[in-house]
Amino acid sequence: MDLSPYESRIERPIRRKIPDLVSNGRLKHLIFSEQLSAELMGELFATADAVHDLSSDEDGARFLQDLLRHKKAMLYFTQTSTRTFLSFVAACQTLGISYADIRDPKISSEYKGESPLDSVRMFSSYFDVIVMRDRTPRFAEACAYMMNDDRDIPIVNGGSGADEHPTQALLDMYTIERAFTFRSPTDSSKRTWYEELRQDHPTLRRGIPGKRFAFVGDIGRGRTVRSLAILLAHHPDVQLHFVAPDVDGLRLSTELKDRLTRAGAEVFEHTRIDDVLADADLVYMTRVQHEHDAADGPEVDWSDFQLTAERARRMRAYAPILHPFPRNTEIPFEVDADPRATYFEQARNGMWVRAALLAHLFGVERRILDQHRAVFGQYHDYNEGVLRAR
Ligand code: CP
Repeated sequence: MDLSPYESRIERPIRRKIPDLVSNGRLKHLIFSEQLSAELMGELFATADAVHDLSSDEDGARFLQDLLRHKKAMLYFTQTSTRTFLSFVAACQTLGISYADIRDPKISSEYKGESPLDSVRMFSSYFDVIVMRDRTPRFAEACAYMMNDDRDIPIVNGGSGADEHPTQALLDMYTIERAFTFRSPTDSSKRTWYEELRQDHPTLRRGIPGKRFAFVGDIGRGRTVRSLAILLAHHPDVQLHFVAPDVDGLRLSTELKDRLTRAGAEVFEHTRIDDVLADADLVYMTRVQHEHDAADGPEVDWSDFQLTAERARRMRAYAPILHPFPRNTEIPFEVDADPRATYFEQARNGMWVRAALLAHLFGVERRILDQHRAVFGQYHDYNEGVLRAR
């Protein structure tokens, strides 16, 4: 794809790009996970929580659906997707945003040779936000610059090649922060789950700092790991353990390793899942992206990268199992009954955080929080760890 009009801006270091993606201190576009500061995530997570609560009854759902009835979204997903696409659909429906989609460029005028850049330029004439996924790295970024030059429409990166998946990182962080509050529906005023855990793990603390995260599988080709690891690396005393075959393109890239180390994380590499399970505070599994296999590539035995039920028994009692999905055989179905299997909740959280993101882009998050306070009488501030178990 020809992105040459934007090449000079694409080649800048990321810190010089970020000012182009904000407006008055707020997100204008979401292209990179590095745009997500702790403060911004705290606000988005509080909004996500409020959307979740308000959606639970008819009056709250009606309030949300009236908020953005005048807005229209384009969902331009030319690379396959279930969760990201549908959770954005559900987020639009929750906030009353009407939407249209193109998922197969063969049924658009791209079939007649129209450039994808022209397609997006056209969408901006009809819609108020464009959420996009494409296999071309940097395409979403180029579209954000195009909007800055010509139109004032936000671009949301729903996954760009092997590059970045910032909204996945956002929902992953939401899920992780919730998990590490160690609240349980069975907590009582006499004894909490957290206190029980600390009997076996006296150094355990709430929150992300000091935790050991294990990422397992096709690390080199996974954009979700990349976007999430960058956010985790900014927390104090975090260890990031990457478990992948010792094969170029599959193992952690030197570029990402350097970036994580510079951000302050301790980075470790392993070639067997068994090396990390007992000490991990969280295990993030990933799918093998066979669609990118080279015909003459090496044979890899992926059985060393499967989280079987037998292996899960060696994990810590509280360690959540995450997976961005779709999964193949790296987590067998039998693990789904394990209380630490958090991946379905993780996918569902995508709907709440994507609704929060759209609310932020259209500037209605304060109205959501005020309505939530009026109805529920409290705010939930994820930055301070004030979380409720659900
Ligand atoms: N996690 C994720 O991006 O899933 P989809 O590819 O189904 O959107």
